[in-house]
Amino acid sequence: MIDIHSHTLWHLDDGSPDLDESVAMCALAADTGTKYLFLTPHLIYWDEAEDLFDRRNEKASHLRHILREEGIPLHLRTGFEILCDDEIFEIKYFQPYTLNGTRYILIEFDFFKTAEEDVRAWCRYLTSFGLVPIIAHPERYGFVMNDIASIERLSKDGVLFQINAASPLGLFGGREGEVALTLLNNGYVDFIGSDAHRAHGRNTNMASLLRRYPEEVDRDLVHLAASRNPRVLLHDEPLTPVRLGHLSDL
Ligand SMILES: [Fe+2]
Repeated sequence: MIDIHSHTLWHLDDGSPDLDESVAMCALAADTGTKYLFLTPHLIYWDEAEDLFDRRNEKASHLRHILREEGIPLHLRTGFEILCDDEIFEIKYFQPYTLNGTRYILIEFDFFKTAEEDVRAWCRYLTSFGLVPIIAHPERYGFVMNDIASIERLSKDGVLFQINAASPLGLFGGREGEVALTLLNNGYVDFIGSDAHRAHGRNTNMASLLRRYPEEVDRDLVHLAASRNPRVLLHDEPLTPVRLGHLSDL
């Protein structure tokens, strides 16, 4: 598996609190079948972005060194999870903030204050730079839980979607679970990420969650989102999503 979303680096956000926890998160990922782990701290304030970029890279290098020393077989890649609001329109250069320098950029929003129109405007702005926006945990936003067809409209604009591995099990809430399963079963999940914050609880062990998905879930779709699509991303190749149904019909 390739996990494109985690808060594994210590002391950059609300994720790992220290280096030992970060190493434990990496060891758990490696032990449970993850080959590549993206380190995607929250980027919330653009005036701190350059400094955060440097600190992230220093910590990623340090963590790689420790993994090598301890013989933990995990490849680390970098990115950010960018909190979007209208301030994004002032930014003209995104390349340092994408996933591993690729065209793919991981974004999130305020869970309940965000309107679909705003998300579409932000995504179109990013797309105008040749970027491919990936919305982190779409199942957790109010505007999606109220109107799941919003995902189909965003998809038509070229936006991709990453659900959290725990969501289809209802671990982020019942409605979030229903939405995640609907997206998955209709081919609207391009990536499954851990969004891990710790070595325990919301952790880097995606395999144990995927194994517990309901039987109705097509294992090929899970494999596509946890392994094949992330590999396309890793190589910065174009990804053509295959949507299976119309969410607007539901
Ligand atoms: Fe996250």
